[in-house]
Amino acid sequence: NNTVAAGMISEPSASIVWHPAAVRRSDRASQGMTLWLTGLSASGKSTIATEVERRLVAAGRPAYLLDGDNLRHGLNADLGFSAGDRAENVRRVGEVAQLFADAGVVAIVSLISPYRADRDLVRARHTAGGLPFFEVFVDTPVEVCEARDPKGMYARARAGEIKGFTGVDAPYEVPSEAALVLRPEDGDPAALAAKVLELLDGEG
Ligand code: PPS
Repeated sequence: NNTVAAGMISEPSASIVWHPAAVRRSDRASQGMTLWLTGLSASGKSTIATEVERRLVAAGRPAYLLDGDNLRHGLNADLGFSAGDRAENVRRVGEVAQLFADAGVVAIVSLISPYRADRDLVRARHTAGGLPFFEVFVDTPVEVCEARDPKGMYARARAGEIKGFTGVDAPYEVPSEAALVLRPEDGDPAALAAKVLELLDGEG
C-alpha cells in the first residue's frame, strides 16, 4: 500500500511499474534545479524568493516560486502544523519541486521546513534523481522575526492563542549543510536575492 504517515511513503506495490523517460535532462531546452529556502516565519524567505523568481524570469530563465503559505490554500489545504503534517508538507512540496526541476524549471521553495530530517529526505530524493538541490538558510534570529511579526502570529503564539508555533513553542532545526546562509546584516532582500543568484552563477 502507499499510505502516507509522518511524511514517509511505503514502497509502491509490485503492480506499480516505473516507466523510464524518453527525454533526458540534457535534451531539454533548459536544466532545472531546486532552491530551498528554509527559516522561521517572517525571516524574509518569501520576499527573497519572490525577488529571485522575478530576476530569473526577467533574465529569460524558467523559474517558479512554490510558497508554503500559498500551497496551503490548495495542494496542502488538508495539512496542519503537527510534526507529521509538516513532514508531509515538506515531502509533497519536495516532490513538486523535483518535478519542476526535472522539467527544466528553477523551482524556488519558500517553506519554514523546520525539521532537518524532512529537508534531508528532499535533498536525498533530488540526489537520487540527479537533480541539483541547494538549501538556503534564511538565518534571521527569532527576536528579529518577532519584532517584524507582519501577521501578528508571534504575538498570538506568545499569548497562547496558537499552539506549536515555530520558534516559540515548536522547534526549528538549523541546517548543517546549507549551500548558503543569509543573515539580515548581509543586506536588504534585493541584496540577499543577489547572493542567491551569485550562488547559482558559481555553480554554473
Ligand atoms: S512548515 O513548517 O514548513 O510546514 O510551514 P509552512 O508551510 O512554511 O507555513 C508557514 C506559515 O504558516 C503560518 N503558521 C505557522 N507557522 C509556524 N507554526 C505554526 N504553528 C503556524 N501556524 C500558522 C505562518 O504564518 C507561516 O507563514 P510565513 O509566511 O512563513 O511567515
